[in-house]
Amino acid sequence: METKISEIRKEYTRGKLTQCTINDNPFEQFEEWLNDAIAHNADEPTAMIVATVSAEGHPSTRTVLLKGVENNKFIFFTNYESRKGKQLADNPYISLSFVWHKLERQVHIEGKAEKCLDQVSDTYFSSRPYKSKIGARISPQSRVISSRMEIMRAFVKEVCKLAGHEIRRPDNWGGFAVTPTRFEFWQGRESRLHDRIQYIIQEDGSWKQERLAP
Ligand SMILES: Cc1cc2nc3c(=O)[nH]c(=O)nc-3n(C[C@H](O)[C@H](O)[C@H](O)COP(=O)(O)O)c2cc1C
Repeated sequence: METKISEIRKEYTRGKLTQCTINDNPFEQFEEWLNDAIAHNADEPTAMIVATVSAEGHPSTRTVLLKGVENNKFIFFTNYESRKGKQLADNPYISLSFVWHKLERQVHIEGKAEKCLDQVSDTYFSSRPYKSKIGARISPQSRVISSRMEIMRAFVKEVCKLAGHEIRRPDNWGGFAVTPTRFEFWQGRESRLHDRIQYIIQEDGSWKQERLAP
């Protein structure tokens, strides 16, 4: 029997979020929820949707992997000449969304992105598997290519060229560090009366916490 899309629905009953129990510090709250997602074997727990906006004001989204939260900045790695990389060069405002369906939770983060220091990108790059390093060197991410063969040829050529050499990070690949100005923690509840708690950064660096209507 064919499933009608509009009839796919479930009740969210796994948890609740109250201002009495939520952490005052949004970074600690995030860490707690990410650890819960990992402990519950959520699929790709570090995957986040990254939204960027072009110079013309057109938004676009894609998934990337969070690689750390360092000094209260969310770090991910990508190609600086990719679509997102170019958009961030024009407009550093960014939004990150984590969805952990297994726990009926999502977190939205808004802030500003800046390139990581070369040393941070070098350290992460050197920890990547060999083939991922080669891939990052040869893929002109987000550009149109003629065929998969083109990229496979470039891969093999690079492997031969660099045989016996250290595989170094290319200049056009590295990290972005996102400094949040807003967090929203969302816990699904029954009858679609979900819990939503937002944190907005204040001028003195403290976080104002408020409940939002579902
Ligand atoms: C689960 C998952 C993880 C991904 N992780 C990354 C990542 O960490 N960095 C990255 O550049 N692309 C990653 N991608 C690919 C991106 O979604 C995207 O296709 C690519 O970065 C090009 O995006 P752009 O053309 O919008 O710049 C990932 C995709 C998926 C589905």
